[in-house]
Amino acid sequence: MSTPQTGNGQSMPTLPRARGPLSAALIADLRGETTLVDRTPPEPAPLGSGDEELALWLLYELHHHGFDDAVDGGTEHEWRPDLLALRGDLERRLEQRWRERVAAADLPELPVGAEPADLARAFFALCEADTGAESVARFLQREADEEQLAEVLRQRSIYHVKEQDAAMWTLPRLPDTTKAHLVTIAADEYGNGRPDDLHAQLWARGMRACGLDAAYAAHVDGALPAVLEQNNLMSLLGLHRRLVPAALGHLAAFEVTSAVPSRRVVRGMERLGAPEPMVAYYREHMVADAVHEQLAVRDLVGSYVAEVPGSEPEIAFGAAVCLLAEAATATAVLEHVRRDDETAAGEDVA
Ligand SMILES: [Fe+2]
Ligand SMILES: [Fe+2]
Repeated sequence: MSTPQTGNGQSMPTLPRARGPLSAALIADLRGETTLVDRTPPEPAPLGSGDEELALWLLYELHHHGFDDAVDGGTEHEWRPDLLALRGDLERRLEQRWRERVAAADLPELPVGAEPADLARAFFALCEADTGAESVARFLQREADEEQLAEVLRQRSIYHVKEQDAAMWTLPRLPDTTKAHLVTIAADEYGNGRPDDLHAQLWARGMRACGLDAAYAAHVDGALPAVLEQNNLMSLLGLHRRLVPAALGHLAAFEVTSAVPSRRVVRGMERLGAPEPMVAYYREHMVADAVHEQLAVRDLVGSYVAEVPGSEPEIAFGAAVCLLAEAATATAVLEHVRRDDETAAGEDVA
């Protein structure tokens, strides 16, 4: 049998390093060294250690490409009742803490039953709530050095290697009009019939040009817990029919908050003389997402609300998750790259 390939034409990812008792037990199980069947999984290390975050990321990844060094590549693990039960437990905890976080953030609400133009206006206003999500783009624009840029790209790659995939889980659950609008946006993300133009492929070319590993999930071992959590949230919203409106709100907020930061990133990369294929990735998003944001808010969200009246609060929840998770990731990434910078400076002095 030939080696299985991911979408990037790379061999399948291998299992990452464990970060605590739960991820260690899960990885050992996936490898066939021990089993979690008929056993209570160990309690995870506290949130923020990455243990729980990585365990859920691993369980979601079984629905994507699996792992080369898992038994049978992980194929048989995908629908195991005990692993689905574990996933369900971790998802309930994830959703509960983000419901609480969104409630505490007190972001602007979406009006229920508003005219389409008013709903769109309210959605754009919600996305303007200053959550700090743009801070990484500003940092790249003005002050990052080359290594800091590289580290930001490694962190970002966790999402970009499967760009849009999580939102596509919603497709079969959508009303027809909304389905058509999602496919319009997705066509751009997936290259409009040209495999080389897939955004995940543009990203991979950019990474290679920067001398960084472009393989699927290559940077998971270094991924910050907040980055894994952000990814898990997208899978959570995409995989549950109950959360479809939240997934659409998330997608729309993602598009609305992409074009302006992408412009800042382009400026930062030009300042640093970054390789053209990586600059091109962000330049493409400056342009494409300025179009996508209109499609996503007016057509995608607009049509869904028309077909599913009363869905506005859940759409707002998904949008808030997008904004707050991006802000949390931004804070964690900036702390991380600045700390590494200080450590390096300290070593220089020593
Ligand atoms: Fe994209
Ligand atoms: Fe987009």
